[in-house]
Amino acid sequence: MRTAVPLPHAYRLLNHGPTTLVTTAHGGRRNVMAAAWVMPLDFTPPKFAAVIAADTFTRELLDASGTCVLAAPTTAQIDLTWRCGNCSGRDGDKFEQLGIGTEPATLVDAPLIQGCAAWLECRVLPEPDLQDRHDLFVLEALAAWADADLWQQGEWTFPVGGRRTIHHSKGGVFFATGERLAAAR
Ligand SMILES: Cc1cc2nc3c(=O)[nH]c(=O)nc-3n(C[C@H](O)[C@H](O)[C@H](O)COP(=O)(O)O)c2cc1C
Repeated sequence: MRTAVPLPHAYRLLNHGPTTLVTTAHGGRRNVMAAAWVMPLDFTPPKFAAVIAADTFTRELLDASGTCVLAAPTTAQIDLTWRCGNCSGRDGDKFEQLGIGTEPATLVDAPLIQGCAAWLECRVLPEPDLQDRHDLFVLEALAAWADADLWQQGEWTFPVGGRRTIHHSKGGVFFATGERLAAAR
């Protein structure tokens, strides 16, 4: 079950640096790609930075629609994440090819991928120079969601031995999000 995350807490969904899946949709076409280079930029309104390479189909749909969903896949979706990052939606619908289940988002056309730990429905805050020179997009989250089994009282609560978010290291090698450690205050 999905739970709404208040927008001032949206940064917490990606603050620990997980690899994401970026979904896009425009004009009856939809797509998903893996993106590790995604990070929070601000609290309110919640902003995120994402590198979306110029040659991707995702970039084409992002430029056309001005919206996307950033999702955080889990340890159960490592192979899916790797595959989404190694083929292009220009060659066919990845959702069909890879059997990816989706639900509609609330404010954007891009779909929510079932089984992820978090979802951020975003719009592009245009920064043409950053986009052209560095493939860098500034996104504002308009709605934020988390898997209610993994998120309670404003923070991640990954169960021991259960699903958790993932971090790409290199060439298909991932780390799972680790132990919760709290600093003395
Ligand atoms: C784990 C992983 C992380 C990736 N991170 C990024 C990223 O941050 N930015 C990017 O532009 N491409 C990234 N890629 C590559 C894209 O996912 C890849 O080019 C993809 O095939 C683009 O698909 P599309 O053409 O359907 O949009 C990553 C790939 C993998 C496997």
